[in-house]
Amino acid sequence: MSNKTQQYIQNNKDKFLDELVDLLRMPSISADPAYKNDVLKTAESVSQYMEKAGLEKIKIYETAGYPVVYGEKIIDPSLPTVLVYGHYDVQPADPIDLWDSPAFEPVIKKTKIHPEGAIFARGACDDKGQMFMHVKAVEAMIASGELACNVKLMIEGEEEIGSPNLEIFVANNKELLKADIILVSDTGMLANDTPSITTGLRGLSYVEVEVTGPNRDLHSGLYGGCVANPINILTKMIASLHDENNHITVPGFYDKVKELTDAERAEMAKAPFSKEAYCEALDIEDTFGETGYSTLERGSIRPTLDVNGIWGGYTGEGAKTVIASKAYAKISMRLVPHQLPNEITELFVKHFESLAPKGTTVKVTPHHGGYPVVTPIDSIGYQAASMAYEQTFGKKPIPVRSGGSIPIIALFEKELGLKTVMMGFGLDSDAIHSPNEHFGLFNYYKGIETIPYFYSYFKDLSK
Ligand code: BES
Ligand code: MN
Ligand code: MN
Repeated sequence: MSNKTQQYIQNNKDKFLDELVDLLRMPSISADPAYKNDVLKTAESVSQYMEKAGLEKIKIYETAGYPVVYGEKIIDPSLPTVLVYGHYDVQPADPIDLWDSPAFEPVIKKTKIHPEGAIFARGACDDKGQMFMHVKAVEAMIASGELACNVKLMIEGEEEIGSPNLEIFVANNKELLKADIILVSDTGMLANDTPSITTGLRGLSYVEVEVTGPNRDLHSGLYGGCVANPINILTKMIASLHDENNHITVPGFYDKVKELTDAERAEMAKAPFSKEAYCEALDIEDTFGETGYSTLERGSIRPTLDVNGIWGGYTGEGAKTVIASKAYAKISMRLVPHQLPNEITELFVKHFESLAPKGTTVKVTPHHGGYPVVTPIDSIGYQAASMAYEQTFGKKPIPVRSGGSIPIIALFEKELGLKTVMMGFGLDSDAIHSPNEHFGLFNYYKGIETIPYFYSYFKDLSK
């Protein structure tokens, strides 16, 4: 089966790459209003590629923010329907000085991990490259007359800012989005010779904190030692959020965390992991984290609290003797089943406010949040994905829970009652959100080749 489709893919490899390069030239940064036109142009471009792929009912759906691009191909209403989700927006490129080539001028370079070459650009892996694999796979299946299921594509432009308008779009378009399964490529796999399927994502609670001391910046000689210095206080408060075992100290934080059974942990430990290689890749002497858990566990089944940014006072050239009036930090908490983002945010606010000594005030502003997800491995969706990987990699994929977050996935289940299968083809080392983000050509093509098998196995297993 699918021979014509695979032939089409082989015959069009260069075209598929050129098109992705064009898409990656567009700086669709959703977080920065300066790029508004570029984000909108990218939506336009995605819709044109959908048209070229042979999709129908293509429409750019306006939302209160950036639009959702939609297209579908219904070949037979009695066949199962696959709803593909992805995003065309990208993270900001900064710090731009740390890029070896400009973030929106894609170049192909070989690396140790990607000897066949990788395409370097913001969004190469997250998520334009992975989203585009689906557009190309669908193009190949339609062109070959081998599309096995009905397909609907929903590509959004606000994932990197927390999908603020997608839940309402989904709630208002339940009929349009009616399907049997959601398919997403916006995660990763273990290694190019170790395929894996993502079976879980962490949730998120994100807050910004502000500590205020005196009503103005002060001379650190005249006032130093006499007033609470907001930066000293903030750093002390932050340091107290973990105990000596790197356990989070916010009261109630772990109350709803479901511990895995020994059997489940043993199963997880089967995933290949080399601490040496891990440390070497990051130039660190050792890993660091919660006592009693492995690195794989710390990064997936355990919740975390991390400062993402901290600022205040004088950070310019040379020295300035000053006690700043205010200090700030941005803090993310990654959540696991069954922690609730709003509840965790509330617990954090209450605790953090209680830490402020007299002479300071604390303000906590919640940003976006998201629910964790775990997907079943005994579903036909998972089985179809597993068989598809086995077909193209010659190896059964390993189920792996990821540490990242895609908040909308839990909301899909709530609004549409649909489970998601996460067929990610990126690698953790692809530097998503970082300078020099890239996506292996092997991964890009392997994704395009594997996706059509998902459709045919999903159709077979749905009977
Ligand atoms: N695609 C990523 C999430 C991801 C990457 C999950 C790799 C698993 C493996 C997504 O675009 C992302 O960056 N999500 C954000 C959250 C969002 C609310 C900004 C994240 O995880 O920080
Ligand atoms: Mn993404
Ligand atoms: Mn991202």
